[in-house]
Amino acid sequence: MSRLLVKNIIAENIMDVDATVKGWIRSVRNSKKFSFIVLNDGSCQDSLQIVVDDVLPNYADVASLLSGSAVAITGRLVKGGGKVQSIEMQAKSIEIIGRVDETYPLQKKATSLEFLREQAHLRIRTNTFGAVMRVRHHLAMATHEFFSKRGFFYLNSPIISGVDAEGAGEMFTVSTLATHASKAPKTKEGNFDFSKDYFGKETYLAVTGQLEGECYAMGLGAIYTFGPTFRSENSNTTRHLSEFWMIEPEVAFADLDEIADLAADYIKFLISYALEHAHKELEFLMSREDSTAAKNHMEILKHVRDSKFHRVTYTEAMEILSKVDPKVKKFEYPTEWGCELQTEHERYLAEEHFKMPVIVTDYPKEFKAFYMKLNPDGKTVRAMDILVPGIGEIIGGSQREDNLERLTKRMDEMNMQQEPLWWYLDLRRFGSVPHAGFGLGFERAIMYITGMNNIRDVIPFPRTPKNCDF
Ligand code: 4AD
Ligand code: MG
Repeated sequence: MSRLLVKNIIAENIMDVDATVKGWIRSVRNSKKFSFIVLNDGSCQDSLQIVVDDVLPNYADVASLLSGSAVAITGRLVKGGGKVQSIEMQAKSIEIIGRVDETYPLQKKATSLEFLREQAHLRIRTNTFGAVMRVRHHLAMATHEFFSKRGFFYLNSPIISGVDAEGAGEMFTVSTLATHASKAPKTKEGNFDFSKDYFGKETYLAVTGQLEGECYAMGLGAIYTFGPTFRSENSNTTRHLSEFWMIEPEVAFADLDEIADLAADYIKFLISYALEHAHKELEFLMSREDSTAAKNHMEILKHVRDSKFHRVTYTEAMEILSKVDPKVKKFEYPTEWGCELQTEHERYLAEEHFKMPVIVTDYPKEFKAFYMKLNPDGKTVRAMDILVPGIGEIIGGSQREDNLERLTKRMDEMNMQQEPLWWYLDLRRFGSVPHAGFGLGFERAIMYITGMNNIRDVIPFPRTPKNCDF
């Protein structure tokens, strides 16, 4: 008997044939001569209703099964009786593969998102996480399709790195010695002697794949990385993870405007791909009782997909913010030129002022990494952040400083050592070209599109300060 996925049965409207389905029972409802099993196999948002006649030899066993049990059911696919389900199965035989008892943690009630975070594998048995993880999959596929079709090559940048490319100092050290702290080798000055460590120097989990990506863009023309990145920033918020995934396209011969257009097109493509491939998932997520997404989230997504993103400079953004009537909105942090754009500012711009994703460019150089291109004003750099309603920053990027002299001058100003980055400086030494790129936080994009409001609920195993279960 051929095994079918529920997804195919529904999408292809497969009826009047015998088939086998395998999955986990969501519920069993017993009536006098029949039982109704709702079976989910994870392949799609829909479950399949199975009608079980009491003439089946193991009927009593089947009727006593609890939610969560694993079964293989063979039967005839027929037109469904109910209004919602177009197809159901009349069972001919049921094999019980894995049982559960009353200790099964997923009872119908009390499955809050917080509770589910503690359920390593059972979390994915719920409609909510099934939906989120399928959307996540589709957004990953969309990413490869988008960049590949535009001639970008997929580059695997290293996960272990010797540099703090963002200069924020929020890195996890990679060491085989640090675990035995008492026996750790010390330098004359009493510091940890990394020259005796595995790599013979201090190494970290990568905070970005950008600099390595840039190397390859300087030969392949355009690349994108898509991998895990690690930051030890101590931010216990709904938008920060210690391990998150980032997509970083790097483009040779490109300036900030080109990369800003690329970023906007990419976000729009992600939205349209999700609407096309995961429509039922998105609809389900919007309809959840504890969904905080706007009632018209789907309409908002379609609007964003079809509209031009606003673009303002940091200076213009600060002007907008400083004119906001404190009676309407009081900011905690100052809005003068030279102050950081805080999350509250980012969200005000995207949610209240523009009501759309907005691209903010040309930030003061003090807030940004060493590699960004200095503007002629000598004060700002060709940076861009894309801010979206509900989240704030979703993308950070820039045009890179392609002039070796200005780049090393900036590193000196920032008290950065040039020696560890000799290989990066070589990019500007041999055949340097204008260069730009950005990084999209994958989980933030999933949050934005699904309307989920905690980043821990859009990644399979969240890592955050003081939390690394499973
Ligand atoms: O703005 P960031 O730090 O930029 C870079 O890392 C550059 N190297 C990118 C580039 O130009 N190639 O990070 C990029 C994005 C942010 O906009 C945000 O969406 C996400 O990564 N991000 C995080 N997501 C989850 N948890 C965290 N702790 C994050 N930190 C940054
Ligand atoms: Mg940033």
